[in-house]
Amino acid sequence: MTLTITPFDSPIGAEVTGIELRHALDKSMVETIYQAWLDNIVLIFRGQSLSKDEQIAFANQFGNVGIRATPKDAQNEVANGYDGSIMLVTNQRDERGNYIGSLQDGEMWFHHDMSYRPEPHKATLLHAIELPSTGGNTKFANQYLAYENIPQEIKELLFGRKVLQAYNFTMLEKVDLKESLDGIQHQWQPIFVRHPETGKTALYVSRLISAAIEGLERQESDEILGQLIDIAEDPSVVYEHIWQPGDLAMWDNRCSTHARTDFPATEARLLRRCTLEGAPMISGS
Ligand SMILES: [Fe+2]
Repeated sequence: MTLTITPFDSPIGAEVTGIELRHALDKSMVETIYQAWLDNIVLIFRGQSLSKDEQIAFANQFGNVGIRATPKDAQNEVANGYDGSIMLVTNQRDERGNYIGSLQDGEMWFHHDMSYRPEPHKATLLHAIELPSTGGNTKFANQYLAYENIPQEIKELLFGRKVLQAYNFTMLEKVDLKESLDGIQHQWQPIFVRHPETGKTALYVSRLISAAIEGLERQESDEILGQLIDIAEDPSVVYEHIWQPGDLAMWDNRCSTHARTDFPATEARLLRRCTLEGAPMISGS
C-alpha cells in the first residue's frame, strides 16, 4: 500500500489512502500524516474499523490523548465503563432508556472544540460507527481563510482584543450573558490566534460559543460578532463531509470550526471521539 494524500476540491480537507490505522505507524509515516494534517486542517481516512483502544493508540502517535471538559460525574460514557477520554457522540440509549453518550440529536452550530477551556485540545479524532440514512453531516470551516476575508477596518478594531468563549452544553444556543456565568465553562481568548506550528493567523470565534468582544458595548459587540460569524461560516470556506461507516476524521481545532447538520431522530447515529491535548492560545496580532 502506498500512502497517498489527496486534497479535496474544497477550501479545507484531504483524504488519506493506503493506510490501516489499527497498525502502529513508522516514524516517517507519522511525520507525513502530521504535516498533511497541518497543511489541510482536516484529514479523512475511510474504510477503517477501530476498537476504542486502537483509536486511542492511533491518536497517541500525534500527541497526548486528552481528558474531556465535561465533569466525569456528568458523563454518560463513564457510567458505561469509559475513562473520561472518550466521548460517544450518539443518540442511542441503553436498555433502561438512558443515553449512552453525548450530543445526541439534531443540528449543532459551528464551534471549536473546547475553546472555552484555558488549554483547548489541538485535535479531535472522530470515528464513524453507525450512521443515519441521511443528514448528520459534519461541516468544516477553514478559519485561516476566514481571517483573510475580514475587512481591514474590522481587523484594526479587533487587533489584540479578546473574545469571551462560553459553553452551556446545549447545541443550538449561546449562553445568556444576562445570567451569571457561574457554573458555565468560559474563557477569554484572543479573537485572532497564531497557530503555534504553522505560524499562520486564524479567526477564533464561533456561533455556538463566542459570546462577547472585550471592550465593546453590548450592541456593537453583537453586531461585530455577527459579521465575524458570517465570514467564519461563509460557504467559500466550508467543506461538508458526508460520513460513511469506518471513516475517521482528524481535525485541527486551532484553525477550523465544525458543525453538524440535522438528521432523523428515529435513526441511530454513533461516532466515537477522542482528542489531543493542546496549549494556551496565542494572540495573532
Ligand atoms: Fe465539536
